[in-house]
Amino acid sequence: MRIVLGVAGGIAAYKAVLLLRLLREAGHEVRVVPTRAALEFVGRPTWEALSGQPATPDVFDDVPHVAHVSLGQSADLMVVAPATADLLSRAAAGRADDLLTSTLLTVRCPVLMAPAMHTEMWEHPATRANVATLRARGVHVLEPASGRLTGTDTGAGRLPEPAEIAAAALALVASPGAGGPSEPRRQDLAGRHVVISAGGTREPLDPVRYLGNRSSGRQGYALARTARARGARVTLVAANVALVAPAGVDVIPVESTAQLREAVRAAAKDADVVVMAAAVADFRPVAPAVHKIKKRDDGVVEPIALEANPDILAELAAERLRPGQIVVGFAAETGDDGADVLAHGRAKARRKRADLLAVNAVGEGVGFAVADNAVTILDAGGNVVAEAAGTKDFVADALWDAVHSLG
Ligand code: C5P
Repeated sequence: MRIVLGVAGGIAAYKAVLLLRLLREAGHEVRVVPTRAALEFVGRPTWEALSGQPATPDVFDDVPHVAHVSLGQSADLMVVAPATADLLSRAAAGRADDLLTSTLLTVRCPVLMAPAMHTEMWEHPATRANVATLRARGVHVLEPASGRLTGTDTGAGRLPEPAEIAAAALALVASPGAGGPSEPRRQDLAGRHVVISAGGTREPLDPVRYLGNRSSGRQGYALARTARARGARVTLVAANVALVAPAGVDVIPVESTAQLREAVRAAAKDADVVVMAAAVADFRPVAPAVHKIKKRDDGVVEPIALEANPDILAELAAERLRPGQIVVGFAAETGDDGADVLAHGRAKARRKRADLLAVNAVGEGVGFAVADNAVTILDAGGNVVAEAAGTKDFVADALWDAVHSLG
């Protein structure tokens, strides 16, 4: 696929180098179009060496090929990362004062913009209006991530991680109706409604504190993205996830296990497949304090009484809220003296009675908050039906293959 990667002049331009590498590694031809300001942050040799193509900001270079028109006409996908406040403004106004904005006017393929700027600039009414204009014209403008900005300040305005941008951009062309030439992608989940839970639940202790876990939500988001790309209607119940929502997916944000249970069960009434990828808290405080728990002068800490949460996966597997529904779980396991990871997984598969259980070993360089994952997929009897190791998208595709083979 031919991708045009526009890079505007912000400090986050260095992250676009990683994005370029990811797109190249995925086998795509990438032409980088930096603005002049972008070259203040990352120089032309870096873009040209990594893309293997010229990287000019100027319409007056490469005149014989009329680059400002030909680039846009031949592109299958255009990504602008980072999209600065200035770039958003120029794009919204339809200006053509450099090669990047000229190309934005000539492309007919899906366009994804990943904004990055200080929070004040992102929240300014002028920027809000520019984003609204671009979205109304069909440009996919991602929400920036929240977190540390250039200096010591934090807030909304960080460029999302390169892997998230790449995945969101590629999903635009892989998904049906994206408006561009799509890569051949099996549509074997077309007509199916899948419900996926992702992230980790938080149980309130008091109005400001909670019991939680370290799940990033990445595997669940990869499941949502790949299911959408394979044609499914996707409802994603996201517990405390700070990732960019995949395009074309309905996201229901939740915090506690009770909220997650309610949202998943409501969506599951109309679902063909339910995948519980969320790390659900096993316990919750019996009675969360109404006011912030005070530190006592005598140093005594009151014990907090906990009770078990319902096992949502086991309930769904037992009840089947829609006849014929396929129920899938995840199990993060560590081996111990008594049994290895797979033996624990087998026991869990039989106990929970889900149709499929994806077992992954945690604490060995795969699992939580890292790019890669490795799973063994078991059926309800504990038999191995598939194994997959790779990116979380790769693992997700392997899981959908296993779901598909169930019929
Ligand atoms: O028992 P364990 O927590 O290891 O099981 C993991 C699987 O069960 C995951 O699919 C998780 O989403 C689900 N689960 C659940 N409700 C709970 C605990 C886990 O649905 N209370």
